[in-house]
Amino acid sequence: MKITVVGAGGNVGSTVALTIAQRDFAKEVIAVDLEIKKDDKSFYPSVGRALDQWQTSPIFNFDTRVKGTVDYKDTANSDICVITAGLPRKPGMSRDDLLSANMNIVKSVTEKLVEHSPNTIIVVVSNPLDLMTYVAYKASGLPASQVMGMAGILDTARYRAFLAEELNLSPKDIQALILGGHGDTMVPLPRYTTVSGIPVTHFIGKEKLDEIIQRTKVGGGELVGLMGTSAWYAPGAAAAQMVEAIALDQNRVFPCAAWLEGQFGLKDMYVGVPVRLGKGGIKEIVEIDLNDEEKALLHESAEHVRKGLEDLERLA
Ligand code: NAI
Ligand code: 2OP
Repeated sequence: MKITVVGAGGNVGSTVALTIAQRDFAKEVIAVDLEIKKDDKSFYPSVGRALDQWQTSPIFNFDTRVKGTVDYKDTANSDICVITAGLPRKPGMSRDDLLSANMNIVKSVTEKLVEHSPNTIIVVVSNPLDLMTYVAYKASGLPASQVMGMAGILDTARYRAFLAEELNLSPKDIQALILGGHGDTMVPLPRYTTVSGIPVTHFIGKEKLDEIIQRTKVGGGELVGLMGTSAWYAPGAAAAQMVEAIALDQNRVFPCAAWLEGQFGLKDMYVGVPVRLGKGGIKEIVEIDLNDEEKALLHESAEHVRKGLEDLERLA
């Protein structure tokens, strides 16, 4: 099993690469990033980080060979590719500037990946997530089952961690689901939140649960406020979990950004929904029952994604 991670000289990409290596299920991880020129010198962040990571193999006990490169030829015949390449928003940069820059990055990265791995599976992490997954899908020409985005596992992990802390329970026992786009309009579902099968409402009152849901929705922003840049440990671990589920044909059910063709009353867009992940990518979109309120919230979130798609068309 050969996995490529693009953007692996950065925070999320390098965490994806190291997490996959530590799990020790892949033969090799190819860590791709740009050559960075500074003061007449060239730097190769993904090559350096990969070397550093490989040097942890005797300590963490893994065989997965982590190799850094700036040459896409080294990615040839990758089974799975993770795209974390992209710019963070900088002061003075409009949303359109960011959207346009990341759209061009994700498009060109996808084309280069598919040129060397024509039947790969792509997991997109770059933001804005639902839109960048759409860009990768269109640029790749791959079936929708082979192109997906990571956000729901991260958002759900934040929700589960907040609940575990509040209830003084193990995060391992908290199961939950969040649907919708990756952003403030995401839709946590208390009705599908349990502690070892027991409805979460047995343990927590509405007011406190609403507070946790609100904190989850702005969970990414909370971390930006603390660190001055966005998070990478949980995002990287979440993307690695998707890769592992596909690589090991685990049939795990996770919320992921998936291409919808009428499911949940939505079509022609990527939005976070529960999927079954295993060999070949998305094996099934799990179309759960939603009540009227949940449906309305999901459609409101999808509408937000739809507006972003219009912006993409305008900037293309
Ligand atoms: P970062 O700035 O640390 O890393 C990004 C890397 O991409 C840099 O090393 C940069 O050199 C590289 N890059 C830029 N253009 C490239 C190109 N054309 N080819 C190859 N590499 C290229 O940023 P970080 O924190 O790792 O975030 C990466 C992306 O992931 C951002 O778009 C961020 O918003 C997104 N993100 C998404 C999350 C999600 O839940 N989906 C969660 C956290 C971050
Ligand atoms: C996050 O949720 C910013 O998407 C990034 O941490």
